[in-house]
Order: sequence, then C-alpha cells, then structure tokens
Amino acid sequence: MTALTLDSVNLHYGAAQALRNVSVTARPAAITSVLGRNGVGKSSLMRAVVGSHRISEGAIRIGETELGKSPPYARARLGLGYVPQGREIFPLLSVRENLLTGYAPLKPQDRSIPETIFTLFPVLKSMLKRRGGDLSGGQQQQLAIGRALTTRPKVLLLDEPTEGIQPSIIKDIGRALQFLRDDMGMTILLVEQYLDFCREISDHIYVMDRGEIVHEGPASDLDDPQVKRHLMV
Ligand SMILES: Nc1ncnc2c1ncn2[C@@H]1O[C@H](COP(=O)(O)OP(=O)(O)O)[C@@H](O)[C@H]1O
Ligand SMILES: [Mg+2]
Repeated sequence: MTALTLDSVNLHYGAAQALRNVSVTARPAAITSVLGRNGVGKSSLMRAVVGSHRISEGAIRIGETELGKSPPYARARLGLGYVPQGREIFPLLSVRENLLTGYAPLKPQDRSIPETIFTLFPVLKSMLKRRGGDLSGGQQQQLAIGRALTTRPKVLLLDEPTEGIQPSIIKDIGRALQFLRDDMGMTILLVEQYLDFCREISDHIYVMDRGEIVHEGPASDLDDPQVKRHLMV
C-alpha cells in the first residue's frame, strides 16, 4: 500500500510559475481528484510527478522514496502508472502493440499483459489486431488506461480521462477505477474538470486555481457554492 505525496512543489516554465507551493496526498486504496479549469496547472502537476518536467522546489514521494531527479522510467519501475491527457495512442500500431509499448520500463521477466485489462475493458480483447487510430475516443481512453496497467502500477495517475468521451464509456472508466481501488488497493490520483464524475467516484478532492491548491476536502464539498466558484469559467 503506497501513498503518493507532493510536498510544497513549485514548477516553472522559464520565468512563468505553473505550480505554487502545491501539497497533495493521494492515499492508498483511494481515489483522489484534483479539479480545476483549463490552464490552472493540472497537467503540470502530472508532469512533476511522472518526471517529464523537473520541479524547482519541494519534494515528491512514492511511499518513503523521494523521487528527486529520477527519470520517468525509474518512477515507472517504482510503481507509477500514467495515463496522459489526450491519450497519446500510437495510431498506426495495433491495440496489442500499443499495450506492449507499456513494457518499455519493465525488466524482461516482468513483461506480460495482465488479464485484468481485458476484464475491465473487454472491448480491447476483441480489438487486439485493430489499429489504435481506428478506435473511438472512448476506446482509445480504455486502451491508454490498459497500457498504463501493463506495468502493474501501485499508483495510477490519470489526466482528464473523461475529456471528449461519451457518457456510457465514462461510466465504464469510473467502474474500472473503483475496481482498481477496491479490489487491488491502488492509489489513484486524477486531475479533472468534470465535477459530476469526481463527485461520484472520489474519496477526497483538491481544487486548484492559478497553480495553487485553494481547497481540500471530501468529494461532497463539490456541492459547496464557494468551492464551485473556483471551477466556473
Ligand atoms: N510547455 C510549456 N511551456 C510554457 N508554459 C506552459 C507549458 N505547459 C503549460 N504551460 C502553461 O502553464 C500553465 C498551466 O498549464 P497546464 O498545466 O497545462 O494546465 P491544465 O492542465 O490545468 O490545463 C498554463 O498557463 C500554460 O499556458
Ligand atoms: Mg491539462
């Protein structure tokens, strides 16, 4: 059971500061959501954790291990799985080949496709030979989650998994995340703009505005007008 902790994290793009003193804890066997409008720094938070953009100050830990300057593959080996915004499926590779790209950080003896992926998303099994680019947006999102699960992560990060996806598949994704939490004890951190989805599945929420955490509490806080105000365009 592994927690993910961000402790007073700052992140810059040149002179522009995208994260200000961000402290977030994602507990084991729980779904933690960070909500915020476009441009508030949600993807920057994900990049800080996966190590694709270095932080200027603060600390990020998986369990007891501080990530420091470790590269993304080392973080994947520590148990971090990542579903990027926009899915980043390889359109010309088959569904099966897309799943296999998830093996990159793994040692050869750890390389096998977990059956859980097909239990959660049966459509992927029936489409193994189809090209990634031929899948619908929702199917691609399921594939992106499946690819992240090939490393058998302890901590799963998802960047706006509901973006541009039809309601029936959003429900499937919500159920899948609840299964990973309840039956596998996974630590799940998602960033989202979609309130209803987060209210339904999250255990704990944070609200972000202009690079800062402005609220923290249970998911029911999303009904609070004061909290909602930060999320309105
Ligand atoms: N690679 C980058 N270079 C410079 N500025 C960036 C870069 N990526 C994001 N930003 C800026 O950082 C801020 C936060 O962006 P981002 O983390 O993508 O927000 P969100 O995911 O919440 O929409 C925005 O002002 C955005 O313009
Ligand atoms: Mg984003």
